[in-house]
Amino acid sequence: MTELVDRPANATRRSPDELEPIETASRDEISALQLSRLKWSLQHAYDNVAHYRAAFDAKGVHPGDLKQLSDLSLFPFTTKTDLRDNYPFGMFAVPQSQVIRVHASSGTTGRPTVVGYTEADIDTWANLVARSLRAGGVRSTDKVHIAYGYGLFTGGMGVHYGAERLGCTVIPISGGMTERQIQLITDFKPDAILVTPSYMLTIVDAMEHAGIDPASTSLRTGVFGAEPWTQEMRVELEDKLGIDAVDIYGLSEVMGPGVGQECVDTKDGLHIWEDHFYPEIVDPDTGEVLPDGSEGELVFTSLTKEAFPVVRYRTRDLTALLPGTARSMRRVHKITGRCDDMIILRGVNLFPTQIEELILATDVLAPQFECVLDRVGRLDRMTVRVESRHALSTEQAKDSAAALIRDVKNRIGVSVAVDVLSPESLIRSVGKAQRIVDQRPKS
Ligand code: DLL
Repeated sequence: MTELVDRPANATRRSPDELEPIETASRDEISALQLSRLKWSLQHAYDNVAHYRAAFDAKGVHPGDLKQLSDLSLFPFTTKTDLRDNYPFGMFAVPQSQVIRVHASSGTTGRPTVVGYTEADIDTWANLVARSLRAGGVRSTDKVHIAYGYGLFTGGMGVHYGAERLGCTVIPISGGMTERQIQLITDFKPDAILVTPSYMLTIVDAMEHAGIDPASTSLRTGVFGAEPWTQEMRVELEDKLGIDAVDIYGLSEVMGPGVGQECVDTKDGLHIWEDHFYPEIVDPDTGEVLPDGSEGELVFTSLTKEAFPVVRYRTRDLTALLPGTARSMRRVHKITGRCDDMIILRGVNLFPTQIEELILATDVLAPQFECVLDRVGRLDRMTVRVESRHALSTEQAKDSAAALIRDVKNRIGVSVAVDVLSPESLIRSVGKAQRIVDQRPKS
């Protein structure tokens, strides 16, 4: 394997709380770095992964054809199916002896997707998560409570290494055992919590249940991700906990958490760490590359990964690329849905996050909900099952259901049924929330 020679020496003795020079570099500097790294990455994939060699050859392109960044559009996409077809290790670009860790994402069906890391990949990942946490407002002197799941999921270990790299005191509790989470938050007095937003809500509920005011804890920052969440949910979490709530994005195939991060000073979407991942937005149906600012599917090409390079990987996540603000690197706006989570209900496209937004706009309903899909005759039907914040009379429950039905009809343009449930009727998430329950017969 040819060595990637321009790996930034983390060894430059910055204080961990200071920005890296590349975070505020000029666009020209970033593009020049991207181009040289992209050439390396395409060649590396072509030389070392049979799938990429075959896919490039089938399209009649060669790594040498990339003269400028926009030439990337000549290269083939990679999909989850390609990764599944090469299960478990067929997409690895280095001998197994150089792979020091694997993770896997379960997905909803079939085989998991297995990803691997060399020592240098793990080092890059730790640096990028450290960079992300710093941007999110975490400091080297902070105690950090990690309630993302540890194990094959990239969440727990991914942020763990990054928090250590930043110099934090790490409390690696993992997900679940909610009572214990609360005890450790109370006793260890962490400054920051890293967890899915839905599990944060579960912890908040349990605190209130135990008579603890969630705003009274030592927490100052929450770094929430691994699932879509809305601006309204940010307000809910910030108000309840008295913290800054920022968004962290990533996916196993591209690395794990820390592909993109929202800055605490601006809270205006996620900066993609473009020195390591080249983002494109494409039309999800045609695959055509769309200009910055257009809504479409996010696609990534890794620029520095050794063990598991990805070329034009289709994330299925829908968003738009926006110019940099607090950092030079471009942002994506909050990822509010995936192509696969899009519900097409009698011709209308909708995402569970749109329902979350409407629920949180009421005073009565709690952000604990699921969207149940079934079929009556030939018509699909959706029922939103949502908890109320406090016990309601039958009459009040009926009124708030009617109000939500009206809001969904007016704002999204489709009729749904709503069941308002009493508090704590739905199963709580300890990781990613399952918002869609699809009971439609498989066609
Ligand atoms: O969820 C990695 C991660 C862990 C990110 C912890 C952030 C924090 P996967 O299990 O492979 O990896 O799932 C990746 O989750 O394609 C998105 O659909 C969704 N996702 C991740 N972060 C966000 C976010 C991790 N901040 C898939 N907003 C991605 C919306 C997110 N969706």
